[in-house]
Amino acid sequence: MLIVDKSEIIKKILNLKSEKNAVILAHYYQLPEIQDIADFVGDSLALSQQALKTDADIIIFAGVHFMAETAKILNPERKVIIPDLNAGCSLADSCPYDDFKNFINQYPEYKVISYINCSAEIKTVSDVICTSSNALQIVNSFPLNEKLIFTPDKNLGSYINNISGRNMILWNGYCHVHDRLNTETIVKLKINHPDAKLIAHPECKPQVLEIADYIGSTAALLNYVSKSSEKKFIVATESGILHQMKKNCPDKQFFIVPSDSNCSCNDCDFMKIITLDKIYNSLLNEEPEIKLSDEIIEKAYKPIFKMLKLSNSLIK
Ligand code: 13P
Ligand code: SF4
Repeated sequence: MLIVDKSEIIKKILNLKSEKNAVILAHYYQLPEIQDIADFVGDSLALSQQALKTDADIIIFAGVHFMAETAKILNPERKVIIPDLNAGCSLADSCPYDDFKNFINQYPEYKVISYINCSAEIKTVSDVICTSSNALQIVNSFPLNEKLIFTPDKNLGSYINNISGRNMILWNGYCHVHDRLNTETIVKLKINHPDAKLIAHPECKPQVLEIADYIGSTAALLNYVSKSSEKKFIVATESGILHQMKKNCPDKQFFIVPSDSNCSCNDCDFMKIITLDKIYNSLLNEEPEIKLSDEIIEKAYKPIFKMLKLSNSLIK
């Protein structure tokens, strides 16, 4: 069913949500109207913390598949619904289980740190999970002489290698949304806005991170902008983040680094596949539901739990 009037569908979603004791968790890259009706909007770490502490019967996850899977692993007894099962992640897809398993079998003495943007299966063969908010903290929790493999993001991994002085072996994965951002478009923006600060997500290429004034997760970028005395920012990440930036700092100006010279935005197609209509229908029909075997849940829970413990976020 397609409902055209946004206020009508929002009313229906909110009514159904309280009737069914459901909660809507949304990532910062979701469409503005979805961020505005969510019970909680956050980065990957905050969303997993929130999933851990919810007492709702149904979790509607407005984000991508690996995020909803993480919520399910933390809440095996609750219904976790993703409004469109096609909301995947190119970074998670860049690390197929069989290939990765063969790879780590060659390095039996290495510990595996997996960025949360990976499948539940990859989590089952990981020692610990990290997000872009806590990657440095998680890596530094290992002794300096520990041999480490980092998957799947080569850009985040090489950034953490640089700032931690480690030499982790990196899986060759990347996010198509961040990896396509380039220094040429940034230089053009810099020429037009010489007083703007460049802020970047660590999934960007090393060349972009090298010239950034600040590097951080989506939550860290938002926090930096709110606290900064600067007024203009060139933003190297997905466009959805601008919604909260503008809401938090209406007096500041933001220039998103475009994905190519023909556009003025940088959207993740997977994140933007979720709509208000799909949220309504998924809440009404209570599907598509995230389903995982007990074995996967049990094995994937351990490295996620370890991350939350190391991040002091065991709040259930
Ligand atoms: P954050 O953990 O910074 O929210 O990043 C998630 C993500 O998918 C970035 O592309
Ligand atoms: Fe995955 Fe990249 Fe989209 Fe984030 S922006 S969800 S890493 S494809």
